[in-house]
Order: sequence, then structure tokens, then C-alpha cells
Amino acid sequence: MNDGTKIRSNSALTPYFLKGYYYVFRAFKFIIISLKVLAYGIFHPSVIFNFLFGVVTEIAEFHKRCGGRVRNFREAALYRDLTAAVRFFKSNCFNADFGTIRPMEAQVLAAVAAHLRPKTVFEMGTYTGFSTLHLIENTPPDTVIYTLDLPQDKAEIVLRNDLHEAHRDIKNINLNARRHFDAAREGGRVVELFGDTMTFDFSPYYGKIDFVFIDANHSYLYVKSDTENALRMLSARGVILWHDYDFIHPGVFKLINEIARDKRIYYIERTRYALYIKNAEGVRP
Ligand SMILES: C[S@@+](CC[C@H](N)C(=O)[O-])C[C@H]1O[C@@H](n2cnc3c(N)ncnc32)[C@H](O)[C@@H]1O
Repeated sequence: MNDGTKIRSNSALTPYFLKGYYYVFRAFKFIIISLKVLAYGIFHPSVIFNFLFGVVTEIAEFHKRCGGRVRNFREAALYRDLTAAVRFFKSNCFNADFGTIRPMEAQVLAAVAAHLRPKTVFEMGTYTGFSTLHLIENTPPDTVIYTLDLPQDKAEIVLRNDLHEAHRDIKNINLNARRHFDAAREGGRVVELFGDTMTFDFSPYYGKIDFVFIDANHSYLYVKSDTENALRMLSARGVILWHDYDFIHPGVFKLINEIARDKRIYYIERTRYALYIKNAEGVRP
């Protein structure tokens, strides 16, 4: 029973002793856990891969902040609007695959698209359509989504700049990947386009696209060309989102840091996204 008497410690040092004991105990537990994970990893090598992947991801996350030119998305009015709205968006993390955006990135894409309510979207890099599906599910029913990828028959591909990096990109993906959406069933909302972004004619879309998502070829020359086309396609309220802004994709990393010299570009924490808002402070859905 509590009769209101305060419990006094025996000595003034007791709280420090307890604190010290707590930290030593936690450190000891951490060593034991690390050893268990190491032992588990020896028998399950894929765990080590996941672990290293996590470490590299964390380093990449902090590396982006070191350059200083690209700003934190938290500084943007759009971020303040998004957090104030406290809304929920549609996302299915289970269909994320090697080569697609990650689950957290899918949620961010869904949130940004739902908040901006673009009338037109242009995606470069369809692949399985995982990101396309997030765009379909999180935009108004009259939004049209153009999504461009290489022809599904590899024999048809003649890359204008047959760079080593560009080639590696193509090898890593399965061009015949099954799409997560059925363009025909989306009632004209999704327009699948086929071609090489370097040679594709973007001129019919100039000034008409509210949201461009760039995730095709990751070599510097391609991302530069894709970005120039994206800037030409942007409408007055247009936004560009790049995927793979990290040191693992040096072409994207270099290009984003370059354009951040004279444009306000944001990185989005816990993702590999970089974002450009044409009408920086005035973007409202
Ligand atoms: C990383 S995947 C896109 C993943 C997709 N955005 C997602 O998260 O679901 C890159 C895609 O870009 C396509 N691609 C690569 N180079 C391209 C090029 N030069 N022109 C058009 N598409 C290209 C590849 O065929 C591949 O499907």
C-alpha cells in the first residue's frame, strides 16, 4: 500500500550505479545477440547478404547528407502539408522485388502521388509495374499514367549509347517481366509506351505532365537526358521524382548533385528518392 512515504535510495550513488549496470547489461546482451546472428549467418549466408545490404543502405542514407547541396525534404512546404494531412494510402509491399522500389519507397510514392493528385503522370522504367500500380491506385480515376520501357523483345534493343553501365542495367532486369497491372483493364488510364528513353520522342508531352517518375537506365548520360526531357515535360505544377539517388548508382548521384547547384532538390529520408518541385513553395493538390 502506498502511504505517501517517498522511497529514498541508500546512497546518492545508487542511481549512477543502476544506470551503469543497465548500460553494461545492454552492451553484454548486444554482444550475445551479435554472436548469435553471426552463428546463424554462417549457416544461412543470405542473412549476411541482408545484413550487409542494410549496412550499405545506412551508409548511403547518411552519405547523401554530407554533400550539403541537396536539401532534406522536411524543409519543403509539401512535406509540411503531407504530415499535416495524416492520411493513409494504398500500398502492397509484398510485390516488391529485386529491381523495384522498396516497400518504404512504395509508401512514399503512394503518399506523394495521392497528395499531389496529378492529372498526368509519366514514368520512365515500368519493369514489373510495381511502381506503376502504386501510381494507378493513388491518383484520381481520371489521371492518365504513361509508362515507358524498352521493347520486351531484347533483339529489338539498340541502345544509342552502349555504355558499360547501361548494359549492366539491362542485364540485371527481366525485360519480359509480367506486369502487375493490366493496361487494357485500366480503361485507358495506363498507356504503355515502348522505346529507349534516349531516342524516344517526348515532344508531344512537353508542358503537360504533372508528375514524372524517373527510374529507367541509371548511367549518367541516360539520367541526364531523362532529366532534361522530364524538365521539358513538366506542367506549371510539375514535380519530378528520381529513384536510386545514392552512391550505389553513381550516374544518378552525380547528376542530382550537379543539378542541385541551381535547382532546389530534396532527398527523402529512408528512401533513395530525390525530388524537384517546379513551383517550390506553391505545390498544393
Ligand atoms: C529499376 S527498373 C524499374 C522499376 C520500377 N520503377 C518499379 O519500381 O517497379 C528499370 C526499368 O527501366 C528499363 N530501362 C532501362 N533502360 C531503359 C531505357 N534506355 N529506356 C527505357 N527503359 C529502360 C528497364 O527495362 C527496367 O524495366
